[in-house]
Amino acid sequence: MTNITIRELKPEDLDEYFQYLIENFHGHEPLLLTPGDHNFEPDTPERRASRLAVIKQGLSLVAVDDGGRIVASAYSEAKVPDDFEKTWREVNENKPTAFIDHVYFFLAGIEKRSKLFERFEVSNVLYLNILSVGKTVRQQGLGRRLVSAVIELARSKGFPLIAVSCTSLYSTRIMSALGMTSIHSENYSEYKDEDGNVVIKPPEPHTSVNIMAMKL
Ligand SMILES: CC(C)(COP(=O)(O)OP(=O)(O)OC[C@H]1O[C@@H](n2cnc3c(N)ncnc32)[C@H](O)[C@@H]1OP(=O)(O)O)[C@@H](O)C(=O)NCCC(=O)NCCS
Repeated sequence: MTNITIRELKPEDLDEYFQYLIENFHGHEPLLLTPGDHNFEPDTPERRASRLAVIKQGLSLVAVDDGGRIVASAYSEAKVPDDFEKTWREVNENKPTAFIDHVYFFLAGIEKRSKLFERFEVSNVLYLNILSVGKTVRQQGLGRRLVSAVIELARSKGFPLIAVSCTSLYSTRIMSALGMTSIHSENYSEYKDEDGNVVIKPPEPHTSVNIMAMKL
């Protein structure tokens, strides 16, 4: 591996970050590997605006190679209990029909059902929303290194808790190795549409989502 350093993800990285995710995340994250044409547009003005707002919180990190290119990212934000409720209301405004709407509905549901804030009796959390390591530098410990840096950042900013929804067995392993525990888990095979069909079908070995968390 070339010399890789970790730094804050900045607003001026937005174009490169979107391109990085298109090449290294959207065709790689287990839920998005469900077979079929998902008609998912990753780069929209709305998505750019919401990602920019999160990046401006200064809680997201990237790993860059010695040429300064992004090779991994941890997109994180501060969340309070109302955020879970608001997201839950939004995903319930329309019945999910498209695949991607089911994914959002499922993820918002597990966050709510985890009762994260009640369980830890805290009123804010640093939530790691998107963890991604570039396809050419995986399985070399970079994911673990990046998450360690996020944990340190959360501590330094005074967060009482860190949490992640791990859709991949590999990210679940990273979080466990760094001291997080699974506080809520659901199998993909149990989430069905109104006709009783399983909707989210990631490849093996990714069979369940785990909400991993740790008090800081
Ligand atoms: C998940 C991901 C971030 C892991 O990053 P990474 O840098 O490869 O992870 P690490 O090298 O730190 O390894 C983490 C653990 O997963 C295991 N692992 C990672 N990829 C693996 C693979 N393809 N096959 C088997 N084990 C794998 C490692 O062996 C290690 O396990 P160990 O601690 O028991 O040894 C990366 O694969 C990725 O970006 N995938 C696509 C996006 C994604 O799924 N993001 C997470 C969604 S929550």
